[in-house]
Amino acid sequence: MSTLSSGVSSFPICPSLFLCSSTRGRSNRGSCSRGRLTSSCGSGCTGLVNDKCDSSSVSWSTPSSSSCRVSPTAASSSSSSSSLSIGEFLSGGSFLSGSRSLQCALIRRRRWDFSVRFMAPTPGQEAGFQNGRLHSAASKADLTKVQEVDAHFQHEIHAVSSAGQYVVEDAEHTLIEPSDEFRRTALIPSREKYDALYRESVKDPDAFWSRIAAEFYWKEKWEVNDGKVHIENFDIRKGPIKVEWFKGGKTNICYNALDRHVEAGRASDIAMYWEGNEPGYDSTVTFGKLLELVCQVANYLRSVGVNKGDAVVIYMPMLVELPVAMLACARIGAIHSVVFAGFSADSLAQRILDCKPKVVLTANGVMRGAKLINLKSIVDSALAQSKEQGHAVETCVVYANEVATKKEQTAWVGERDVWWQDVIPRQASKSEVEWVDAEDPLFLLYTSGSTGKPKGVLHTTGGYMVYTATTFKHAFDYQPGDIYWCTADCGWITGHSYLTYGPLLNGATVVNFEGVPTYPDAGRCWEIVDKYKVTIFYTAPTAIRSLMRAGDEPVKKHSRASLRMLGSVGEPINPAAWKWYYEVVGDSRCPISDTWWQTETGGFMITPVPGAFPLKPGSATFPFFGVQPAIVDENGNELEGECSGYLCIKASWPSAFRTLYGDHARYETTYFAPFKGFYFSGDGCHRDKDGYYWLTGRVDDVINVSGHRIGSAEVESALVLHHQCAEAAVVGYDHDVKGQGIYAFVTLVEGVEYSEELRKALIAKVRYQIGPFAAPDIIHWAPGLPKTRSGKIMRRILRKIAANQIDELGDVSTLADPGVVEQLIELKHK
Ligand code: WTA
Repeated sequence: MSTLSSGVSSFPICPSLFLCSSTRGRSNRGSCSRGRLTSSCGSGCTGLVNDKCDSSSVSWSTPSSSSCRVSPTAASSSSSSSSLSIGEFLSGGSFLSGSRSLQCALIRRRRWDFSVRFMAPTPGQEAGFQNGRLHSAASKADLTKVQEVDAHFQHEIHAVSSAGQYVVEDAEHTLIEPSDEFRRTALIPSREKYDALYRESVKDPDAFWSRIAAEFYWKEKWEVNDGKVHIENFDIRKGPIKVEWFKGGKTNICYNALDRHVEAGRASDIAMYWEGNEPGYDSTVTFGKLLELVCQVANYLRSVGVNKGDAVVIYMPMLVELPVAMLACARIGAIHSVVFAGFSADSLAQRILDCKPKVVLTANGVMRGAKLINLKSIVDSALAQSKEQGHAVETCVVYANEVATKKEQTAWVGERDVWWQDVIPRQASKSEVEWVDAEDPLFLLYTSGSTGKPKGVLHTTGGYMVYTATTFKHAFDYQPGDIYWCTADCGWITGHSYLTYGPLLNGATVVNFEGVPTYPDAGRCWEIVDKYKVTIFYTAPTAIRSLMRAGDEPVKKHSRASLRMLGSVGEPINPAAWKWYYEVVGDSRCPISDTWWQTETGGFMITPVPGAFPLKPGSATFPFFGVQPAIVDENGNELEGECSGYLCIKASWPSAFRTLYGDHARYETTYFAPFKGFYFSGDGCHRDKDGYYWLTGRVDDVINVSGHRIGSAEVESALVLHHQCAEAAVVGYDHDVKGQGIYAFVTLVEGVEYSEELRKALIAKVRYQIGPFAAPDIIHWAPGLPKTRSGKIMRRILRKIAANQIDELGDVSTLADPGVVEQLIELKHK
């Protein structure tokens, strides 16, 4: 594992940022401040709702080198009552005994923020803790007693010397400046420029966004009412929540993404490289060709009666035809709803029943890695279900994906199904544009919430267009000629905003990859980077961690010389993965944009603007133009300066979702009722002294597995559908690769014995009901669940048990039966 290599990283480290003028951290002047490190975390710890916080202290000695060394001896002598020893932080102190206690800044507020490495007393023995879990050790003897550590710490700590000196790497105080070369051509090359634009964007958002909107084609300009181009109410106390941008303006996002470039003479420029699951399967699509394909699908949809405002469900693999289908809907003003082609028939049926499409577009099958997925049979079963429950889909268009499965092997419903290849290519390759209002719906995308029913997030046209294009351009410093690869699937919001609309609106060339990053081997991504000379690569921390596991060699085997910019999305990226991505993948040359945003926000909210300011590994840095974040405490009071709490947004931005389809009341209660006057994101966040934002993960009952949001209630509902499962409670727990894993406590029906067979059956039930990506990692048999006297399950306790933080269960006296907890702990390893 590269993170365990000995020696101090080449990272510039500045332990005392506010004293240090050099952002490269080379001049550690004076002693490190204790102020920041003795801070206690108030309400902003991990699992903000319930968890206990630890405050701590640190003593530093600052050598003149670029690292901050902490002497264990000095540290222990200055220990305060609130400090933790290394023994304590290793959850019981069995690794190094008290004699080597290290006081360090242990602020339990982030999920991924810690890795520790230190030498055992004998030189050469090295143990590694990363993300709170033991990874490897040269000497196993020392490690047998320490299995798991739940560490939500701030820093990367490396003890590299057998002489008892620990070297602390502190992500929060590590600044990575863009290179001079990067800055020279950057669109926004300085902090001053970013600051000036940001100030303007929040002072006069209408003027700011109108200026940018004017760069797009509008059939008719938007109205200005009382001098305003947008209206908003984010305060539920003042009436219904409402957001509108550029209302009255007539435009079309497909026209802006394709026709505009073709009309500007770019028909033969490449819009998309498609790379199939199997190496060697690929195609290249120009803007001219893409427009033709889109027009044909648009004409077909019209021919089967799809009109402006009608919903179309798309359940397809990552073929070129998937973004084509989305753009075709947009062209005719239909509302697309893409369902990730990993969802089960039940989940698909649920979505179909909610938005009632006339047409479903799909493919007969797809190879994912070495595995065949028979999509058509899933669709058949979903369509049968939805028909039974009152909505019959009239037309199902099936793309014959012969690489995966043969036409003859595809089940068929005569009066409903048509082959894509039979009906689409016959259509005319020109199609009229439907001019729509800026506030007409563009798409619906279902996402998990904390109740069982998925939420249909609704985005409209004009604001979404302007905002996704602008965020794409600036967060990736997009310049003509860049080749941009986003590994996301169009089934998720990233595939909408940053594989399809954002890049194409900028006329960018995108790479669309059908496969998985590790197939046929861990070098696939870098092979693709070299093949297409990718300059901007955007992926998720879970992919980075799984590639990191394969070591540096598969990366280094490929040149990657074309890369100039990297991106990360979907969950907090731990500093160790950040560092690997930066140093190994990007050869310490490419800035990383860690983009925080959500299905609901439509576009990036907190993100680096890479030429403008230095990065900190693991921080999403600063708000994008027009975004006004607020960190609030549990009472909804906005916190100032350095703080931790709940992340909210104070005012609207153009691509904000406008409602939850068919349920405006749920929209208001979920997002605007918890903290009055604010949009509540559901995430925890820390803001450091320099104003950098550090996302800490979900604080609600949503679990983020490999960057996919899964509601614990959805998994629970699936589990209890098994006839032998009486009750289930599901929580997330830290997972090395996936970010979070799914941990399910299940109570069986009276008289049923827990068995391995049943465990497998329960997991299979969830795979079947929701999809394979939602399968629980751990099933924990629970004869009883910890409940309050009013019957509410205390998830806080379950989270602690799942995380092995048995000694931090807190007060269990309010439980109806406190004995249940003991019982669960006993059964943990059974
Ligand atoms: C998480 C994905 C930390 C967060 C675009 C959010 C992140 C949820 C980041 C939204 C990031 C996304 N750093 N956390 N850079 N990006 N998240 O709707 O918890 O699928 O609330 O949108 O992912 O997930 P969604």
